[in-house]
Parts: sequence; structure tokens; C-alpha cells
Amino acid sequence: MRLDAGAMPPNIAVPAGATRAPPTQTCIRVEGLSHRFAGGLLAVDNAEFTVTAGEFVVIVGPSGCGKTTILNIIAGLEAQQSGAVSVAGKTPKAGRIDIAYMFAQDALLPWRTVMGNVLFGVEVRSPGGQISPAVREEARELIAMVGLSGFEDAYPRQLSHGMRQRTALARTFLMPSPVLLMDEPFGALDAHTKLTLEQGLLRLWERDKRTVLFITHDLAEAIALADKILVCTARPGSIKCEIPIDMERPRNIGALQNDARYHDYHRRIWTELAAEMIV
Ligand SMILES: Nc1ncnc2c1ncn2[C@@H]1O[C@H](COP(=O)(O)OP(=O)(O)O)[C@@H](O)[C@H]1O
Ligand SMILES: [Mg+2]
Repeated sequence: MRLDAGAMPPNIAVPAGATRAPPTQTCIRVEGLSHRFAGGLLAVDNAEFTVTAGEFVVIVGPSGCGKTTILNIIAGLEAQQSGAVSVAGKTPKAGRIDIAYMFAQDALLPWRTVMGNVLFGVEVRSPGGQISPAVREEARELIAMVGLSGFEDAYPRQLSHGMRQRTALARTFLMPSPVLLMDEPFGALDAHTKLTLEQGLLRLWERDKRTVLFITHDLAEAIALADKILVCTARPGSIKCEIPIDMERPRNIGALQNDARYHDYHRRIWTELAAEMIV
């Protein structure tokens, strides 16, 4: 049996007391980063950028230009070969509790329910796998926030792809990590589900302003979400330009089409990207 849930609830409550880190503090620093894979392929060449604490930064670039490689190095999943990379002043290392990573594929555990999957990230990091009642309650709230109330006991095989990504989003936000790395998390979704998840992500981000580094190939998504967009060159990837997105928050993604600035940004980024593409 496959189940389906409706759209995200439009009025996700934002708990009081959400705090924002000082806006000028650098959280992710990437300097002179290059990466060559075994076999000789140079994937990244002298990439440089910074992400300020609490900032939502989006990377766009041609397919295969090294975006995932950059994210993997920041997460400590790929060994750093040259340059300097730091997250909160420390060098990358896999398994850091202050960094959460969400992939394009939901990576849910098939033998765990929605609740079991949402709790999983916290569980593996807590001594003895203990989950406090407060964390369980927070998991329930996050499941409600992503529109999955009533599906807590469902298994991934009973869910649509969109619902599995919602589960993964709730799991990501249950982690206490102040830094979120997201690699095309909504890439394979239909337009409507994608929009509801983007809006849900923005609401969760508005709630506690974590630092987000998000990869997408979708320019509309990039503009809707970002404080700043980093445009990559073709492989070997480097950052060719940074485009601050100067639009008010909170944003209503559905209404952006009516905003002339949105179309201006789209044109500008597309022009930068098109110059990198071989057609
Ligand atoms: N583990 C690997 N070994 C060898 N080459 C790789 C590996 N991972 C990625 N690549 C290559 O590095 C380049 C950049 O890959 P990737 O970072 O995944 O690009 P993007 O995410 O921008 O599409 C691609 O040409 C890809 O084929
Ligand atoms: Mg990729």
C-alpha cells in the first residue's frame, strides 16, 4: 500500500525565542580548494567562498562541475587535498555533530517507520541511543510541520517520494546541528511537492536560522531560497561569481513570479551559467 499526504500545512508555527547567530561571523570558509580524483580528473580548481553564520547560501553550476565534491569535502566525507576549509573554525571531519547532511536520495532506513527514521540521526549520536521525551515530542512536531501527521508509523515503502523527502527534512531538522549541507534535496520531485517542501524548508530555517549550504540546478529554487547564490564555472569547478539575493523575508515562493526582481536575478544567473555550458 502507498499512502499520500496533502500539502505542507501553510501556517507552520514558529516557536518563540528563536535566535540568530551574529550575522558577521564566518561559519564555512573555503580558500583555494582544489580536488583531483584518483585517475587524474581535476574536479575542483581553486574554489573560494565563505558562508556567514545563519546565512542561506545556494550553489548552482553545470552538472559535473564539482558541487557535490565541494560539499563532501566540507562534510569531511572526501579528504581535502589542498587549500583551507573550515566549519566553525575547525577542519572538516566525518560525523561532526554540528553538521547535518541531506542528500538528493532520502536515504531512509526501510525497516524503520517515519518516526524511527526522524529519530535516527539523534539516536546514533546519543550515548546508548537514548531518546528523551522532549526530543520525541520535537520529532512529532517536526513531522507535523512537514505535513506528515498521522504517518508516524508508516514505513518508507508506503510513502511517495515527496513524503520520504519530507521525512528526511524532519530528520535533518531534528539534529541539533547548526550547519546544514543539502545536496539537491528536492531534485527529483514534481513541481508542486517541490514548492511545498521549499516553503517548508524556509519556515524551518526562519525558525532557528541555521547556516545552510544548498546545492541545486534549479534557478527558481536558488533565487527563492538564497541570501546569496554562488555560481560555479564548468569543471574544474570554481566560484565564478556571487550574487546576493536582496529580497525580503519571509518569502512567499508562490508569489515570486510576480516580482520583477526575481526575473532579473533569473536572467542574470542564467547568463552566467550559459557561458559555462557546452551546447
Ligand atoms: N569518487 C569519484 N571518483 C572519480 N571521479 C569522481 C568521483 N566523484 C565525482 N567524480 C567526478 O568529479 C566530477 C565532479 O563531480 P560532482 O562533484 O559529483 O559534480 P556535481 O555535483 O557538480 O554534478 C565529475 O566529473 C565526476 O564524474
Ligand atoms: Mg552533485
